[in-house]
Amino acid sequence: MRTLFLILAVCVVFATAQRRNNNNNRGNNNHGNNNQGNNNQGNNDDEQKGGRLLAFPEPELCASRPKQWQFGNHWYFFSWDQDHPKMKGQKVDWLEARNLCRERCMDAVGMETRQENDMIFEFIRSRNLSYIWTSGRLCDFKGCDEREDLKPLNVLGWFWSNTNTKMAPTNKPPPNWGYQPWSDKGHTGGPQPDNAEFDINMTSESCMGVLNNIYKDGVKWHDIACYHKKPFVCEDSELLLNYIRSKNPGIVL
Ligand SMILES: *[C@@H]1O[C@H](CO)[C@@H](O)[C@H](O)[C@H]1NC(C)=O
Ligand SMILES: *[C@@H]1O[C@H](CO)[C@@H](O)[C@H](O)[C@H]1NC(C)=O
Repeated sequence: MRTLFLILAVCVVFATAQRRNNNNNRGNNNHGNNNQGNNNQGNNDDEQKGGRLLAFPEPELCASRPKQWQFGNHWYFFSWDQDHPKMKGQKVDWLEARNLCRERCMDAVGMETRQENDMIFEFIRSRNLSYIWTSGRLCDFKGCDEREDLKPLNVLGWFWSNTNTKMAPTNKPPPNWGYQPWSDKGHTGGPQPDNAEFDINMTSESCMGVLNNIYKDGVKWHDIACYHKKPFVCEDSELLLNYIRSKNPGIVL
C-alpha cells in the first residue's frame, strides 16, 4: 500500500515538474506519469480532450496564499471568501478546485482524521453551504487495476489525493470516528459511495464532495462525478510547500 502512494507522490512531483517545462503546452496529453487521476477519468470527455494536468505550485502564490484559518499546523481557506475572479462566488470542477489550491502550495482539503472532518462539517454548517469539493478520489485510473488490495473498489479504493493516503473502508465508520461520514442516502436511495451517475449514463462518480442535506441526510460525504462544479476548501500541502522550499532557498512560506 505504502509503496503505491509513494509512487503516486513521486508522480505528482514529476507531473508538476513536467508542467513547468511545458508551461505553454497545456494541450499536451502525453504525460504518461500524470496518473494522479486528473485526466484519466474514463468518461469525462472534457478532461480527456483538454489533457488537463495538475497545476505546478508558484513560489509567489505560495508565499502569499490565503491563511484564513489554521487547524493543526496547516492553513486553510474557503474559495468563496477570496477576492479572486476564479474563486469568489464561483463553482469549479474537481480538478480545477485542486489546481487553484495547488498553485498556492495547497490542495483540496483531505479529512484524514475525525477532528479535521468535524472541523470541515462545522464550517459547512456554520456557513450553510450546500456543498464543497474535497481531495477525495477513487483509484479507478491507470495503475489501480492490478491492485488486489483496492478491491472491491467502492469499499477499499478511495484515497485522499492531497496526501496520497488511503481512506478507511467505506462500508463502516472509520476506526475511532464514532460515526459514518459517508451518507446512507443518495440519488439511488442507497448508502454512499454508490456510483449512481454511472448507472444513468456511464459517468463515473470518482470524486468526493461533502453535501449538506441534499438528500435530507445532514452533512455527509458523497461520491460525485468530477465534472460537477462546486466551491472548495484548500489545505496546506506539505509535499508542495517542501518542494517550493527546496527550489527557493530562504523563501518564507
Ligand atoms: C440554508 O440553506 C438552505 C438551502 O439553500 C436554505 O433553504 C435555508 O433557508 C438556509 N438557511 C439559512 C439560515 O440561511
Ligand atoms: C449524465 O446524467 C447527469 C444527470 O442526469 C447529467 O447531468 C449529465 O450531464 C449526464 N452526462 C452525460 C455525459 O450525458
